[in-house]
Amino acid sequence: MTKPLIVGNWKMNNTVSESLLLVTGIQRHVKDTDIVDVVVAPPFTSLYSVGISLQDSHIKLAAQNLHWEDKGAFTGEISASFLKEIGCEYVIVGHSERRRYFGETDEIVGKKIEAALKNDLTPILCIGETLDERTKGEVNDALERQLKSCLSDLHPKVAENVVIAYEPVWAIGTGNNASPEQIRDAHHFIHNMLSRIFDGPTANAVRIIYGGSVTPENFSDVFKQDFVDGALVGAASLKAESFAKLVSIAARKAK
Ligand code: PGA
Repeated sequence: MTKPLIVGNWKMNNTVSESLLLVTGIQRHVKDTDIVDVVVAPPFTSLYSVGISLQDSHIKLAAQNLHWEDKGAFTGEISASFLKEIGCEYVIVGHSERRRYFGETDEIVGKKIEAALKNDLTPILCIGETLDERTKGEVNDALERQLKSCLSDLHPKVAENVVIAYEPVWAIGTGNNASPEQIRDAHHFIHNMLSRIFDGPTANAVRIIYGGSVTPENFSDVFKQDFVDGALVGAASLKAESFAKLVSIAARKAK
């Protein structure tokens, strides 16, 4: 089994001072960081301060987005090398909120993945179907399309370093998490697609985490499923206690 991964996506929440309070609480409550990779993704403005506060901890830092170029005339954007220098190890790429509100296409997402990998950042690639695609029975088509267009250009050895977050769009922030069976089927499909795009060993190395209304109440059943290696957590990551509970659920399976 790969090492479980729990990522807290704070989205556009928390000023610098609020971020420091939250990360202090997380450091107090979260245990088992030796057997679970625990990652927090504060907003850009808080990354540096949160990174300093995490210096003596095993908790890792992620950004929520990046630009694919290294530098230049791209007002308002942040590059992978900037993130690397302030201690980021992960970056979330292609979150459905970015696809939906900021027009990110699979082509853009693919370029961001390559930029992250080139700078030694682990990209967390978010994919998932809309409600309309699920209703029409097109879940696998949507996943296949996103995986192929975002990853096909990568060498298998490089692709091993990508994390896939399966996040059905209809489950994000709605309180409507996907059922354990729906998650199992999607993760299975993603794993098989990775074997087809790359090869078996690459598929086995890539961690596939679930996101969409994850809570300490529903996560145990989700995490029991095959090919579920962790969670990308929004709302429940904004409280230190609930985030810590998710880590301890993941740790129980890893022990
Ligand atoms: P949620 O967000 O846990 O609040 O549904 C998950 C995500 O957007 O990554």
